[in-house]
Amino acid sequence: MRAQIALLPGDGIGVEVVAEAEKLLLAVAAKFGHEFSFVRGLIGGCAIDATGEALPDETLSICRASQAILLGAVGGPKWDNPSAKTRPEAGLLKIRKELGLFANVRPIKASPYLVQASPLKTEIVAGVDILFFRELTGGLYFGESGRKTNPDGSETAFNTMIYSTHEIERIVRLAGQAARGRRKKVTSVDKANVLEVSRLWRQTFDRVMQAEFPDVQTEHVLIDAMAMHLISKPKNFDVVVTENLFGDILTDEGSMLPGSMGLLPSASLGADGPGLYEPIHGSAPDIAGKGIANPLATILAAAMLLRHSLHLETEAVAIEKAVDHVLSRGHRTADIAGGGPAVSTVRMGELVLEAFLAV
Ligand code: NAD
Ligand code: IPM
Ligand code: MN
Repeated sequence: MRAQIALLPGDGIGVEVVAEAEKLLLAVAAKFGHEFSFVRGLIGGCAIDATGEALPDETLSICRASQAILLGAVGGPKWDNPSAKTRPEAGLLKIRKELGLFANVRPIKASPYLVQASPLKTEIVAGVDILFFRELTGGLYFGESGRKTNPDGSETAFNTMIYSTHEIERIVRLAGQAARGRRKKVTSVDKANVLEVSRLWRQTFDRVMQAEFPDVQTEHVLIDAMAMHLISKPKNFDVVVTENLFGDILTDEGSMLPGSMGLLPSASLGADGPGLYEPIHGSAPDIAGKGIANPLATILAAAMLLRHSLHLETEAVAIEKAVDHVLSRGHRTADIAGGGPAVSTVRMGELVLEAFLAV
């Protein structure tokens, strides 16, 4: 098949990890006889430096003209000034909103080869397989916000958590559909004991699930308790659906089940148009430029890209198997090496490539 893939490496380790995933995509094209063309775009801090905007129009047009987008990460201390006109993260929020990418799918699977990498006990972690659906274009991230100076010179700022039934229904539906192909259970996470938005979320979830997915088991868990259950009994969860900020926080926490942020990929999907694929981690300024970042999250995001946007299931599985193989042989980047010997970002990319070519 022919496909155009937009590459948006972004900032910090984003550049390092996307380079490795790109090599894998090129190898997929060569091995399976596809024609992938890559078009690069600027997003985040590098885009602010070059154009003054975190998401230049040109990048958006490149993305709209592509079948899928692979993104690294944005942000860094250079652009952290609280009074700056714009921030790198604004580019990420804008691309998600502009492309209607309301569903952020974040699988959390503990590899049997990596149980030692998790700070949690093996019996808790072994066999974990959770699929998060994080709503991505609503909630506190996109509600009305503002800041004003009070008469006494102090300041007040506010953000608004806002959701419509339509926004809740569509993400709940995706979660219900996914559960049907899995263990048929959906956990909805909210704060319905306090937030009006969560009460609407809960009612809408119940209505959609009862009417359209009566065969799927459901439960509600409050966000604070969920933060605890996620690491004390993670095997109780199959599909989890939640609003934007709760999903952001829970999935970073959940990365400690497999053992590192550097292992978790994500897909951001809309009703139509290109999907956007990225690791869940950020630009990691503490290790950027050192060549030690784990590229597996981004390589696995490339596998999700092949599966969801290009419908190349065999190719996606081939990449995932190659990653498993490399981990089974004991190769580790520093984040999962537990102080033992570690390979570089580039070497990890090469190892996966070699394993991919070998099968
Ligand atoms: P981060 O995810 O960048 O890093 C958190 C910790 O995890 C750091 O110690 C980092 O070294 C480690 N880490 C992350 N990815 C790793 C990898 N692939 N391999 C090894 N270690 C890895 O979060 P942060 O430090 O809170 O944020 C840094 C910047 O990234 C901020 O500007 C933030 O806004 C941005 N950010 C961007 C995205 C994105 O682009 N999607 C996501 C999260 C954070
Ligand atoms: C993520 C990030 C972003 C988010 C930031 C950088 C805007 O943390 O992709 O998880 O909060 O969605
Ligand atoms: Mn995040």
